[in-house]
Amino acid sequence: MSTPRFKLAVFGQPVAHSLSPRIHRLFGEQLGIDVDFSAIEAGVDELPDRLEAFRTGGGTGANLTVPLKSAGLKLCTRVDRAARRAHAVNTLKRETDGWHGFNTDGAGLIRDFDRLGIDPAGRRVLIVGAGGAVAGILGPLLERRPERVHLINRTAERAHRLADKFAHLGCIHGDGFESDPGSQFDLLIQSTSAGHAGMLPAIRRDWLDNDVDAYDLNYGAAHQDFARWCREHRLTCHDGLGMLVGQAALAFEIWTGQTPATDAVVEQLRSG
Ligand code: ATR
Repeated sequence: MSTPRFKLAVFGQPVAHSLSPRIHRLFGEQLGIDVDFSAIEAGVDELPDRLEAFRTGGGTGANLTVPLKSAGLKLCTRVDRAARRAHAVNTLKRETDGWHGFNTDGAGLIRDFDRLGIDPAGRRVLIVGAGGAVAGILGPLLERRPERVHLINRTAERAHRLADKFAHLGCIHGDGFESDPGSQFDLLIQSTSAGHAGMLPAIRRDWLDNDVDAYDLNYGAAHQDFARWCREHRLTCHDGLGMLVGQAALAFEIWTGQTPATDAVVEQLRSG
């Protein structure tokens, strides 16, 4: 009996530099699963047609990245709780009644926290930024029962809105940078896209405990300014490469039913 071949893809714009094809090929090699994984360029308006063409060509699973995560939600016949909460899907699986949508971003972060030995339970968490990435992580984060979560964002209104939306899941507040969030946060999550423009959000060291764990949802060049800020303030800091691999592992599991190990893949990506 021949092994099934999984035809998978990541859709996005831009998508050429996506690490997803490499990550999923490494998972396939690790588990002896035949994976055909491509990167397909598509904007929001092109997504329905491109996805349909992929399906008729035998495609059974897809990742969606920027700017397609909200648009993808509308193409699904069913979505999981994480996708509903985040109002975004990053993973699609073809079933007989259509595409089923999932959001593995938040669970991917928690999976990476577990890998790094960071337990959010009972922690005082400061999240910088209140965009789509934060909407994706809040549900799984709050399920781990931190003592409190404070969102601080350049646009205060966005932080208020997101905090209100997740208030039923735990103690969470949102505000702008001009407000003082207090001090002694012991888990810092940097989620803004400021690093893509070579900028840093206005984080203050006195908001943070001495033993704070700092985690940036960004990796690569977009992580460098925050990494430097952490070094200057003698903070332990992790980039978001492990979260990327973590969310991919959960998507791979949805598509194939097999769970890949993430550690080796994170190391392989780091070594180039
Ligand atoms: P993502 O899906 O990556 O979260 P997004 O939804 O566009 O992308 O959100 C980007 C986040 O980075 C927002 O919190 C944004 O702040 P605003 O809501 O005020 O726009 C934040 N951000 C981007 N550039 C920033 C900068 N230079 N300084 C501080 N925050 C910034």
